[in-house]
Amino acid sequence: MLECAVRWAVPVDEPPMHALLDDRERDRYDRFLRPEDKARFVTGRFLARTVLAEATGLAPEAIRFTTGCPHCGGEHGKPRLPGSELNFSLSHSGDRVVLVLAEGAEVGVDVERESDRDIDRLAEMVLTAREREALAAMADRQRGFHAYWSRKEALLKATGHGLAAPMTDIHVSAPDAPAEVLAWDGEAAVPDVRLADLTPGPGYAASAAVLTARPLKITEIPPP
Ligand SMILES: CC(C)(COP(=O)(O)OP(=O)(O)OC[C@H]1O[C@@H](n2cnc3c(N)ncnc32)[C@H](O)[C@@H]1OP(=O)(O)O)[C@@H](O)C(=O)NCCC(=O)NCCS
Repeated sequence: MLECAVRWAVPVDEPPMHALLDDRERDRYDRFLRPEDKARFVTGRFLARTVLAEATGLAPEAIRFTTGCPHCGGEHGKPRLPGSELNFSLSHSGDRVVLVLAEGAEVGVDVERESDRDIDRLAEMVLTAREREALAAMADRQRGFHAYWSRKEALLKATGHGLAAPMTDIHVSAPDAPAEVLAWDGEAAVPDVRLADLTPGPGYAASAAVLTARPLKITEIPPP
């Protein structure tokens, strides 16, 4: 079993949280125009520092993340704690911020607020032909689409590719079936993957992915 901890938070923006940001994070915070984007960002980094401080014994203010992009070297890649076997992933959407933590395996998480997106257009970019057929037969297509999306984005965040890799290369189980990768083609594909749906509460879809062959033991504290 691979233990995987899931922690949820509600976005807030308070001075003690802001005080923990490093210079680069503070620049990024300053560049967000909307207060809600600032709150989601600062809450995510605060949650990551809090959880990693508990797990490592380091002081939260001593924790510094690297964000190098393996493709271009820019500072917009997956955040990591250097020199540690602990892997984490962050996601935020609407009133939800979530972190997934595991040791010794890459993790990815995604939460999506269900919105009135044009899912027919997006489905062409996100879903395989078989998934589009399954979606068309669903009573709640918004929920189904966001479930598919969060599973696939969690996987691509575990590998660190993010949306730079095509979601249509990934074939996942139907939204009402247990989360599973059925097949994965393309350059980002990894053979050993575990997927799990999380419980973000009504109006949201969320999933976690771990690059491992071991079954997952997920401990999730639901959102407040
Ligand atoms: C990662 C990505 C999918 C996030 O999408 P999103 O739906 O807007 O946002 P989410 O809230 O789910 O996730 C954002 C968090 O993912 C993390 N993240 C950023 N880049 C990541 C990556 N490449 N892989 C995994 N996680 C990443 C960060 O923690 C980020 O939050 P923070 O910066 O506020 O801490 C998207 O930004 C992306 O595709 N980035 C990569 C693009 C890329 O590499 N292009 C090629 C450049 S050379």
